[in-house]
Amino acid sequence: MSPGRSFQRPKGMRDFLPEAMMLRSHIESAWREASIRHGFEEIDGPTFEHLDLYTVKSGDGIVSELFSFQRAGGNTDFALRPEFTPTLARMAAAQGRSMALPTKWFAMPDLFRAERPQKGRLREHRQWNVDCIGLPGPDADAEVIAVAITALRLLGLTSDDVRVRISHRGAAAALLEALGVPAHQMDDAFTLVDRRGKMPSQEFQAQAAGLGLDAPAVQRLDDIAATRIPATQGAASIAGTHGLPESAVADLVELEGHLAARGLLDACDWDLGIVRGLAYYTGTVWEIHDVAGDHRAVAGGGRYDQLVSLFGGPDLPACGFGMGDVVLGLLLQEKGLADAAMAAAPRPDVFIVSSGSDEAEARLVPLATSLRDNGFHVRHTHKATRNIGKQLREASGCNARHVLILGDELQQGDVTLKNLATGDQSIMPLADIAVAIGRSDAD
Ligand code: HAM
Repeated sequence: MSPGRSFQRPKGMRDFLPEAMMLRSHIESAWREASIRHGFEEIDGPTFEHLDLYTVKSGDGIVSELFSFQRAGGNTDFALRPEFTPTLARMAAAQGRSMALPTKWFAMPDLFRAERPQKGRLREHRQWNVDCIGLPGPDADAEVIAVAITALRLLGLTSDDVRVRISHRGAAAALLEALGVPAHQMDDAFTLVDRRGKMPSQEFQAQAAGLGLDAPAVQRLDDIAATRIPATQGAASIAGTHGLPESAVADLVELEGHLAARGLLDACDWDLGIVRGLAYYTGTVWEIHDVAGDHRAVAGGGRYDQLVSLFGGPDLPACGFGMGDVVLGLLLQEKGLADAAMAAAPRPDVFIVSSGSDEAEARLVPLATSLRDNGFHVRHTHKATRNIGKQLREASGCNARHVLILGDELQQGDVTLKNLATGDQSIMPLADIAVAIGRSDAD
């Protein structure tokens, strides 16, 4: 026989063994719960789209990270989805005027980006998207920020762990223009500034020079990025700090009131160093970062008022965000909050132990089947052993709530039921088991 061939997992991709899967499910439960609490409805779209969907308006950053392909023998270009917003805008455009407004959608797609794999950035990640279509005002921006915070709080993260950094494309453009970037190169400047942490500083300086930013301007940019103003100090103070006209921060001043109404000012900072790399943002933009600054962004989003019409739909304002599971998972582990995922893991309602007698063996599988049909999570050993002690150890190892012992009493039609939390044990007719387990679970 020839030796087996071994395969490596592709770089930047993940396997999910049960423990990793529990953490992912825990994160997804918080995402879904937060979305539903705020009145968002779940959607999804295709895993790949026509390549053009991403080249139109996502920006060079994303386009350079596409996994694109053609069908064998075909000549149409497709790309695995690197983000969800273009799909969402395409779906909204297709609904056209029949779409109920506002529309509040959430999705939890798997996304694919050919990034250089590193801590917190992989080639596949799951990203929660929350988007609100049809509302032009800062109330909607505050609402989507609130949804993000609700999920983070559900997972146990507080404003001592993570903070929202809020900026505005208009204000950032005014600053960049003052530093020498011509208006027609503003999208490229946003992409470059967003990527400055990802490239060697010499390369950044060279590309920045091509956009009109000389060395002192780059230094000034670094100073701006290092300046975070607590949102409690008021958005009007951004204008004074950075020498901007008040009109450039008018949206943020309004946003401040809506954040205050939701009790969120303490969780936010004004930070004009945030520009976002995606080309479609038009107004308020924001990211959520860990306070210690050890990781890349946990979430990012903003307002994109022209994307739906760019995709052939009506003129509809929109805003939203994406939050990935990778940095979030790392943060939960770092803060000791990942254990909650294990506590939320499904526990067997009952573990059936067989004494090994012919009668017990004959009853085991039919009993498990009937309890499962009644909605219970049932396990029993798959090992050859019928040693009661070993089976009991297996039951507590999988955190079962009850043990049901098929022993000598079976001859009289009875079984022993033990509650592993309280130690209470009683002998009862087999026919009463489902009711007894159900009653004890409800206690
Ligand atoms: P984004 O900033 O590209 O925005 O991604 C949002 C979040 O997804 C990031 O903050 C990060 O948590 C996660 N993420 C992105 N790339 C990776 C990666 N390679 N590995 C692991 N996690 C990653 C967008 O995608 C926008 N479409 C979000 C949006 C929705 N804006 C409006 N609505």
